[in-house]
Parts: sequence; C-alpha cells; structure tokens
Amino acid sequence: MADLSTTFLGIKSPNPFWLASAPPTDKAYNVERAFEAGWGGVVWKTLGEEGPPVVNVNGPRYGAIFGPDRRLMGLNNIELITDRSLEINLQEMTEVKKRWPDRVIIASIMVPCEEEAWKAILPRVEATGVDGIELNFGCPHGMSERGMGAAVGQVPEYIQMVTEWCKKYYSKPVIVKLTPNITDVRYPARAAKAGGADAVSLINTINSIVSVDLDNFAPVPTIDGKGSHGGYCGPAVKPIAMNMVAEIARDPETAGLPISGIGGINTWRDAAEFISLGCGNVQVCTAAMTYGFKIVQEMISGLSEWMDEKGYESIDDFMGLATPNVTDWKNLNLNYVTKAKIDQDLCISCGRCHIACEDTSHQAITNMVDGLRKFEVIDEECVGCNLCVNVCPVDSCITMEQISGVDPRTKKEIDPNYANWTTHPNNPSAVTEPAE
Ligand SMILES: Cc1cc2nc3c(=O)[nH]c(=O)nc-3n(C[C@H](O)[C@H](O)[C@H](O)COP(=O)(O)O)c2cc1C
Ligand code: SF4
Ligand code: SF4
Repeated sequence: MADLSTTFLGIKSPNPFWLASAPPTDKAYNVERAFEAGWGGVVWKTLGEEGPPVVNVNGPRYGAIFGPDRRLMGLNNIELITDRSLEINLQEMTEVKKRWPDRVIIASIMVPCEEEAWKAILPRVEATGVDGIELNFGCPHGMSERGMGAAVGQVPEYIQMVTEWCKKYYSKPVIVKLTPNITDVRYPARAAKAGGADAVSLINTINSIVSVDLDNFAPVPTIDGKGSHGGYCGPAVKPIAMNMVAEIARDPETAGLPISGIGGINTWRDAAEFISLGCGNVQVCTAAMTYGFKIVQEMISGLSEWMDEKGYESIDDFMGLATPNVTDWKNLNLNYVTKAKIDQDLCISCGRCHIACEDTSHQAITNMVDGLRKFEVIDEECVGCNLCVNVCPVDSCITMEQISGVDPRTKKEIDPNYANWTTHPNNPSAVTEPAE
C-alpha cells in the first residue's frame, strides 16, 4: 500500500491534500470537520491586522460557469480575507493545533506593506504553534484596491521586501502565495526566492467577470445594480495553474524551490498531475466548497490505488517526473508524424469530426464512402492536428497513431531521427546541432 505522507519544508502531513485558505478554513468548526474527514492540512483563511475586521458585502459574493450538466466548472468570488477578529482566529488556531498535532495548520497573512505591520502580527502567529505561514500576495479583488494582496504580488520588489521581513520576524517556514494576474510568473517566484521564501504556492484566483446580467446590465454577482471583478477558480483554472507551476519548476533560477500546487484540483488525478510537475503537495478550495470535505477520501483512495498500480511507494517517487518533459516549442520533434485513426466499431456516425476537419482544419475526414454515410480519415490530407479527437463525443473512438516510412501527405520519407525547429532548413537562424 502506497505511503501518501509528505514532508513539505520539514512539515509532516499524513497526505498531500491541504485545504487552501478560503471559507472552508475560516474557523475551528470547519477545520476540525475537515481534519475528521481526512485532510492532511489547512491553510487558515487569511488573517488581517489587529483592529476592526474587514467588512464583506451582504449580498451575493459568487458567480459561476457551468458545464452542460450544470456541473460547476468555474467559480468567481468577491469575498475578502477573514471578517472575524484576529484575536479569535489566533485563539482557535492555537486550540485546533493542540488537538490535531499530526495535521498541518498554516497561517495565511495579509497586512499592509509596512514593516511595522508584519512585525506586529508575526510573533502573535508564532505563539499559536502553527506550522508555518503563507503570505497572501494573491487576492485580486477588494484588498488589492487597498494596496494588499495582488497589488503586492504584482511587484517583485515588494514580494522580496515583505518576504525578507517575514524571515526576520518569524522562525518557521514561509510560503509565498503568488497571484496569476501577472504576465510572467517567474519574476514574482524569483523575487520570493531572493527574499528567502521556503516555498511558493500558486495560484490564487484570476481577475474575472463571469457573466453580465442582461436584464440590468451589471456583472454577476450583482450588488444593488453594480458588480466588481472577482477572483476565478475551480476546474476551469487548472490549465493556467499547471502552466505557471511548470514555468517555476523548470526555471533554472527557481528550480528546486518547493511548490504547493493550487488551482482547480478536483480529483486525485489533478493532484497527481500537479505533483508530477514538481509540487510537493496540493491545496484545494473549490472542490471542497462544491462537494464537501469528504471529497478528500476519494482523492486519497484514488491516488493510493494509482500509486499501487504504478508501483510508486511514496509521493517522492513520481514528484517532478513531468518537469523535464515540459519544454519550449522549438525543442519539439518535427519528425514525429501522426495520423488520426477512426475505430469504425465505436463510431456512432455523428459527423462532428467531419464538420470540424472540413470547415476548420484540413478536409481530411470523409462523410460519404461509396454512397454510404461513413467517416474515414484521408491520410493524404491529415496533418495530425487531433482536433477530431477533441470534438468526437465517443472516448477513444479516434486515436492518433505515429507513422513511419513515407508520409502520404508530404510523399516524403520520414526521418526517424529527432530534429527540431532549431535545425530546420526553413528556420533562417537554423543551427547544425539541435538545441536539445
Ligand atoms: C470564496 C473564496 C475565498 C477565498 N479567500 C482566500 C483567502 O482569504 N486567502 C487566500 O490566500 N486565498 C483565498 N482564496 C483562493 C483559494 O485559496 C485558492 O487559491 C483558489 O480558490 C484556487 O483554488 P481552487 O481552484 O481549488 O479553488 C479564496 C477562494 C474562494 C473561492
Ligand atoms: S487530425 Fe486534424 S487533420 Fe487529421 S483528420 Fe483529425 S482534424 Fe483532420
Ligand atoms: S466524431 Fe467520432 S463518433 Fe462522430 S462521426 Fe466522427 S469518429 Fe464517429
């Protein structure tokens, strides 16, 4: 039986599944129920500075994008950091940590970008006995208008400066949570590392307007006729999050910097993908908000079964295995030639592949053969783009097959050797040896 336990920054967790800082981790009641359900750790809902807590809107704070079966694909929110007092949060964190010593609690913090503010809160957090802190440089709405959250996360110099303060006034691990609302995530990650961060976590939510109410012409969620952009998360953001994780994992300047992966993790498979890209653990928010805390049990059993199947005894056995396979386009093998193949026994003759290829690709799928409705790939036209695979409603009905010998489309012999754009004769800057 696979061992799912992790040691992230020296912090032991029974499994790699932590709840991200958000409503599921806003209070002791939630966190204890999450631990009972099996979550390995939580990042407590972001704490603000001493004084009157922040005030949330009193109307709707969520908008959503649904799949055709009304499954939630993306969630948008305009919620701020915790609206409970710092004192109560710290007290509850202390108590819960004492009661659950084998589970991880990380304190998420967002206070003004002034050394005094961090100096004031950090010893109080340290006194709770929680395992580490996460700096919320990511919330893109509300708090960013006040110079916090994403407003800090978008300026690498500020990230480095605040991280340095945290390393100065706090002795346990410091995780920097990054915003995706930036052009190139490598710069904030490098700044976090330069400031002494023990790890980065990503992503926080993405600036978004999920829909406009066409009766009153206001963004959703609508508060008395007006809306504000919110933060987008859930399954829809996973591809963006994974790309950002991979960029940091393969950047020579941050390679080896521990990463906690966040964004759209709904299943054990999502988690395994993030871990394979180099994450030491994962954090989950929307999936728990949609399906409840017990979803972690499916994540645990699914991951465990898959690891057993593959012969991985521990998380470390497959962590980062995908990272070296993420490369620049210029390094892709241009001698790797594929053609689509339709399994006639599985085909339900819906015609979607034909229309997609005919109208928008390469006119490489028939709709009639010998006067009969039939969908077949014309190898002489197929460029191997795989659009048909992606529009076909039947799983595995169309597959992509690698070919060798003469390509019926180009009529040329396929070179069996790896060759990429860097050596291609059409490249004006071609070199003689491939870059990779
Ligand atoms: C309602 C809501 C409130 C959130 N509040 C916080 C917060 O206080 N601090 C924080 O760092 N992230 C916050 N987040 C972001 C999540 O921690 C997480 O980064 C994001 O939702 C992406 O993960 P997911 O796709 O699993 O939801 C919040 C997300 C939601 C949906
Ligand atoms: S792989 Fe692309 S070109 Fe080939 S049949 Fe499918 S859609 Fe057409
Ligand atoms: S989309 Fe798939 S099922 Fe539909 S005709 Fe093409 S191969 Fe057959």
